[in-house]
Amino acid sequence: MRHRRLFTIGAALAAAILVGATAALAGSGSGHGQFRPPPDSLRALAAPIGLRIGTAVTPFELDHPDYAQITGDQFSSVTPGNEMKWQVVEPTRGTYDWSGGDRLVSFAQQHDQLVRGHTLVWHNQLPDWLTSGVSNGTISNTDLRNLLHKHITDEVTHFRGQIWQWDVANEFFTDSNPSGINPNDFWISHLGTGVLADAFRWAHAADPHALLFFNDYNIAGEDGSNAKSDAVYAWVKTMLAQHVPIDGIGDQGHLDTQYGFPTQMTADLQRYAKLGLKVAITEADVRTFVNNATDQVPTDHLATFAQPYEFSKMLKACLAVQSCISFTVWGFGDANSWIPGFFTGEGYATIYDVNLNPKPAYMDMQEDLTLAARGAPRRGFGDEH
Ligand code: XIL
Repeated sequence: MRHRRLFTIGAALAAAILVGATAALAGSGSGHGQFRPPPDSLRALAAPIGLRIGTAVTPFELDHPDYAQITGDQFSSVTPGNEMKWQVVEPTRGTYDWSGGDRLVSFAQQHDQLVRGHTLVWHNQLPDWLTSGVSNGTISNTDLRNLLHKHITDEVTHFRGQIWQWDVANEFFTDSNPSGINPNDFWISHLGTGVLADAFRWAHAADPHALLFFNDYNIAGEDGSNAKSDAVYAWVKTMLAQHVPIDGIGDQGHLDTQYGFPTQMTADLQRYAKLGLKVAITEADVRTFVNNATDQVPTDHLATFAQPYEFSKMLKACLAVQSCISFTVWGFGDANSWIPGFFTGEGYATIYDVNLNPKPAYMDMQEDLTLAARGAPRRGFGDEH
């Protein structure tokens, strides 16, 4: 009996060592819990409450060691900035290029990160062969519907098991008051509003385990009237009533210091959550007017306070809602941001400066996450020293 017991302990120990060795081996090349981020990194500070801090990534920038280091150390989720969009994955009809997406997925596996897939149905960044085929009549509406079904099926199948959240549909609501599904949208005008539900069904069929999101901007009160949020809320309720497989709502979170912070944000995220949905901030940045696109120094001194303030408020809105599972910044360095190219005269929109030094917004996020995980130290009676 005694011997037997010793043997059992010995065998258990050996098995444990073996399991450890296997895990270490797997970890050396492919993640599996082996990556150790710095303890004061955003991802480490957010880990105790189960929140993922993400960033958009340009996969070929990972060739730069500084960029790759920050991507791996600071973030527990990554989103390809462009490399899963239709224009990039199928530049020529019938010929796929998954290289950018695949590269990011493998980086994510090596760094214990999850991947947000972005995006399957959108009016922007479509391949020329598709849009010109539609406008010259060689692609009929029936063809278009079949092409979309095939695109979603092929892309979701290619990445099956490797995507945590998919932005299935992106930017379908108008900016007017009241807001609604945009009848002039490329997809809606050709295929009708029902195509949205179909897109979710097709994505679900191709990867039943991925979380499927509807993603849009200004849907957490950023428009001031809350009209767009009201419209998305009403729409997603009907989707859920029809058992459409939609798991979450992503608010892009592109803010601008000239408009002030949307005070409705927490309440808006919370009401999506109360429907049983996950929520996420998917593309956070806060732009402001700058001297030029290279240096990106704010022209108004107060903007250096407003910019981190709005980042912090947005993170806190997510922290306050238990179903907010990820907070993703749309790139982490001002030099890599899309803002100067799209908003004339604006920049300084990310959490690292043009030289990849952390900005006040980064420090504020660190503080917010520290407080979220541990709370403020409890006051004593003056005898704590
Ligand atoms: C942007 C990319 O960052 C740019 O590199 C690209 O030229 C245009 O698209 N909302 C979205 C994102 O959903 O896909 C957009 O990304 C930014 C706005």
